[in-house]
Amino acid sequence: MAAKHNDLVFSGVQPTGNLHLGNYLGAIVNFVKLQETHSCIYCVVDLHAITMPPSVWGGPEELARSTREVTAAFIAAGIDPKKNIIFNQSQVAGHAELTWVFNCVARIGWLNRMTQFKEKAGKDRENASVGLYDYPVLMASDILVYRATHVPVGEDQKQHLELTRDIAQKFNNDFAESIAARGYGEGFFPLPEPVITGPATRVMSLRDGTKKMSKSDASDYSRINLTDDADTIAQKVRKAKTDPEPLPSEEPGLAQRPEADNLVGIYAALAGKPKANVLAEFGGAQFSQFKSNLVDLAVTRLAPIAGEMKRLTQDPGYVDSVLIDGAARANVIASETMSAVKDIVGFIHKR
Ligand code: TYM
Repeated sequence: MAAKHNDLVFSGVQPTGNLHLGNYLGAIVNFVKLQETHSCIYCVVDLHAITMPPSVWGGPEELARSTREVTAAFIAAGIDPKKNIIFNQSQVAGHAELTWVFNCVARIGWLNRMTQFKEKAGKDRENASVGLYDYPVLMASDILVYRATHVPVGEDQKQHLELTRDIAQKFNNDFAESIAARGYGEGFFPLPEPVITGPATRVMSLRDGTKKMSKSDASDYSRINLTDDADTIAQKVRKAKTDPEPLPSEEPGLAQRPEADNLVGIYAALAGKPKANVLAEFGGAQFSQFKSNLVDLAVTRLAPIAGEMKRLTQDPGYVDSVLIDGAARANVIASETMSAVKDIVGFIHKR
C-alpha cells in the first residue's frame, strides 16, 4: 500500500534581481490563495541564486538585500508568516543534504533534457557552473525534503516538476525493499503535483509578446517590477507593444496576437476574473482605452504591495526574525525526512 501523504504546499522564489509581475501573477498570487486551504512552506531559494556567476546575482550584500526583499514581497502580498513557514533555503541543511542523495538517483540523461539549463547556460555550456546543471535536483530536494504534495509555480517550471516526480518515483523504486522493511509504507516520497492555474501562468514581456517576462531582460520596459511606483507602471503599460486592431470580444480572436493576449491575461489575473469576462467588457475597444483601464487596475492592485514592501525592507530586524523563525520550523520537518532517508539508504546516524 502506498503511504498516505498529508497535503502540504511548497514553493520557492529566487532572490535575484527584481521581482516582477510574472512572479506575482504566475506564482505569488497562488501562494496567497493556497494558505486558506493548506499548510504552506514558502522558501527564498538563495542556494539556487548562486548557480549563476556573482556578477548576475550581485555579490553578498545584494544577495542578502534581495533575500529580504523577496521575503517582504511574500508578506506584503498577504502571506501570513505565523500560519505558514517563510524562510531562506540555505538555513536548512536538509536541502543540500538530500540533493546529494538525489544526485545519485537522478540520471545524467534526465538533466540533459532540461530546457532551462540550456537557456541559462547559453552557447558557452562548458563554462556553466556544475550547480546550474544540478539546479533541478536541488529543486526536487526543496520539495521532497518536506514531502510536499502540491507546488504552485508558473508554466516555465513544469519540466522541473516532472523531473521531481521522476526522482521521487525512482527513489521509491530503488529503495522499495528498505522502505517497506523499515515500515515507511510503499511510497516514501509523494509524487508532487504542479499547481499551474489562473489566466497568467506565463506572463510575457511588454516589449515582445513571444518572450517570457523575466528578471534578466536588459530592458526594464519589458516588465513591471513589484517595486515600481504608479508613474512607472503607467509609463510601462502605455509603452507596451500592441497591434493596430481593436480588442476582440471572444478568446479565439486573441490567437496570433501575442501582445493583445498577454495584456488581456494580465488584466484578467489582476482583476481575478477569466479572460472571457475581460473580453466581454472590452471587446471592440481601442488599446488606448484598454491600457488606461489596465493602468488603473495595476496601480490599485500593486501600489499597496510596493508600499508595504518598502515599509518592511526598512525593518530588516523583523524580516530576519521571520526567516529565522521559519527556518527553525522548516528544519523540524526536514530533519525528520533526512533521518528516515538515512535509515532507508543505510547511513549510520544519531537518532
Ligand atoms: P523564479 O525565482 O525564477 O520564479 C519564481 C516563480 O515565478 C514564476 N514565474 C513566472 N510565472 C509566470 N510568468 C512569468 N513570466 C514568470 N516568470 C517567473 C516561476 O514559474 C516561479 O514559480 N526554480 C524556481 C525556484 C524554485 C522552486 C523550488 C519553485 C526553487 N526550488 C521548489 C518551486 C519548488 C524559479 O526559478 O523561480
